[in-house]
Amino acid sequence: MEIQFTLNKKQVTAEVGPDTVLLGVLRDLGCKSVKCGCETTNCGLCTVWIDGKSRLSCSVLAASVGGHEITTLEGVEEEAAEFGRFLAAEGGEQCGFCSPGFIMNVLAMKRELEDPDLEEIKEYLAGNLCRCTGYMSQLRAIQKYMAAQKEKDGKEALA
Ligand code: FES
Ligand code: FES
Repeated sequence: MEIQFTLNKKQVTAEVGPDTVLLGVLRDLGCKSVKCGCETTNCGLCTVWIDGKSRLSCSVLAASVGGHEITTLEGVEEEAAEFGRFLAAEGGEQCGFCSPGFIMNVLAMKRELEDPDLEEIKEYLAGNLCRCTGYMSQLRAIQKYMAAQKEKDGKEALA
């Protein structure tokens, strides 16, 4: 069957079967940031947004996303790069395989939770399994990033 959906703000069409998984469709459409680590909803590497909410694309049937809006790292490159600088500054950057899903989840959390404490951050990111560079460095980076964003939003509101 043919499905149409929005991918990173562009209308796309894909031919899919009843059991085709979204992850492969997104990669075939050129979104190579979407990685497959487990295919069993355990690693978080395949995280994308569906209508703005984090979802594991390895557990979503492509046929179900017709008419919906999908965002991958390719659609939020500038924002991802900005957070990446905070990760690097704390020594918390990950490899190219693990970074996209982790970053997509952090950026989704920023949109969803107003002022998360450490426990809420940990809980939100519990599905991102690999933290080769250490949990603490990443948590520091996330907290500094969230604080910087809050300050930026405050300045914009006053301007
Ligand atoms: S590939 Fe989807 S959670 Fe691991
Ligand atoms: S294997 Fe990629 S950062 Fe752990």
